[in-house]
Amino acid sequence: MPKEHPKAKLIKRSNIVISTWSHGIKANEEAWKVLSDGGKSIDAVEAGVKVTEADITNRSVGIGGRPDREGHVTLDACIMDENSKCGSVACIEGIKHPISVARAVMERTPHVMLVGEGARDFAIEQGFEKYKTPIKEVKKDWKEWKKENKELLKKPRINHENHDTIGMLALDEFGNISGSCTTSGWAYKMHGRVGDSPIIGAGLFVDNEVGGACATGMGEAIIRIAGSHTVVELMRQGKSPQDACRLAVERIISKHDDVTGLQCGFIAMDVFGRVGSYSVYSGFNYALQKEDGKNLMV
Ligand code: GLY
Repeated sequence: MPKEHPKAKLIKRSNIVISTWSHGIKANEEAWKVLSDGGKSIDAVEAGVKVTEADITNRSVGIGGRPDREGHVTLDACIMDENSKCGSVACIEGIKHPISVARAVMERTPHVMLVGEGARDFAIEQGFEKYKTPIKEVKKDWKEWKKENKELLKKPRINHENHDTIGMLALDEFGNISGSCTTSGWAYKMHGRVGDSPIIGAGLFVDNEVGGACATGMGEAIIRIAGSHTVVELMRQGKSPQDACRLAVERIISKHDDVTGLQCGFIAMDVFGRVGSYSVYSGFNYALQKEDGKNLMV
């Protein structure tokens, strides 16, 4: 039986799931099955984002994701539970569910983060499913991209293509919050590049005393302000999830002379079940599922 939240009498005890972007709707449905069966938030956030990781039509998360400029699809993911336990993998290749490997790092190793070949070796040793990437359509697009971007291959520079992580937060009926975050990262990034998504405190942060937050968008900017941790700390100071997300975005803006093309956004949920989101530019949406229904929020 899961442990009850230490402030169980004060906080919200009801199932709620939020996740970034419209792909979150399907992911939330899977997470909801876990919660409505009386399951724990940590199981819900893993099951939920696995839907997106397995969707081969998704070009920014999981096995259908775009590769780096050398043609490698390198995946990043992290997970955090109500006891502030966390696990993460970065730059892992050819594994179907990086989020489950991140959870295994959390539960079966003394570490928090494994990267690259070490992460892949660990995943294989633990029996996680392999998957050959890039998939055919993605490889074709990459080859065309290479032809059109010969100069970029000789002298790498930042090229911002749209990318959209899935970050998810779930509150369960025990009053506990967990979160997950997974991405294939920035399309045609430099080989070895890691964004915010597998970095605890940047792409995801949960403190069960306060709430949780997830980030999406340009990871470099999110890491610079330890974005998700900042959102949670602002909620700790009494800000609503919405205001906390807005203040974190304003901090990102204040650290850049020019935010042209720099899209970042946060979603957050506190222990009272209040949710919020904010992004540098409009166009960011998130999926919300509660006892009274589900919605795509803008
Ligand atoms: N936010 C995802 C990334 O920058 O890789």
